[in-house]
Amino acid sequence: MGKRQHNPVCTHQELHEAGYLMRKISFKNQPTSAIIFAFEGIAYAYINHCMHMHRPLNCEQDAIFDETGKYLRCSMHGFIFDPKTGECQSPVCFGQRLQALRLEEIDDTLYFAEKHLQLID
Ligand code: FES
Repeated sequence: MGKRQHNPVCTHQELHEAGYLMRKISFKNQPTSAIIFAFEGIAYAYINHCMHMHRPLNCEQDAIFDETGKYLRCSMHGFIFDPKTGECQSPVCFGQRLQALRLEEIDDTLYFAEKHLQLID
C-alpha cells in the first residue's frame, strides 16, 4: 500500500452529492484547509486561501463558485478564479494562482497526491 493511500479525500459520489468539500490538512508543515470540487467532470483541489486578503473562499458564504458556475469566487470581495488553473481573473490579483493540490483517483476514491500533505482529522 502506497503512502498516499493514507490520504483518502472522498469518493466521487460524496463529491457529487456535496458540491464541494473542505478538508483540514497540514501542507508543508502549516495547518490549513483544502477545497475539493468537480468541474466539468474532473476533480480539483486547492488550498482554501485567497491571495487578496488571505481569507478562505467560503468565509462569508457557504459557496465557492460564482452564480454562473464557471468561476471560483471568493465570498469576501468577490474575486474570481479559473477553476481549472486557480488563476485569479480579477484585476488586483490578476494572474496569481491559488495553490493547486494534486489528486489521484484509485477505485473511485480520490487521494491527495502531494508529498508534504497530511490530512488532519
Ligand atoms: S480576500 Fe478574497 S477577494 Fe478579498
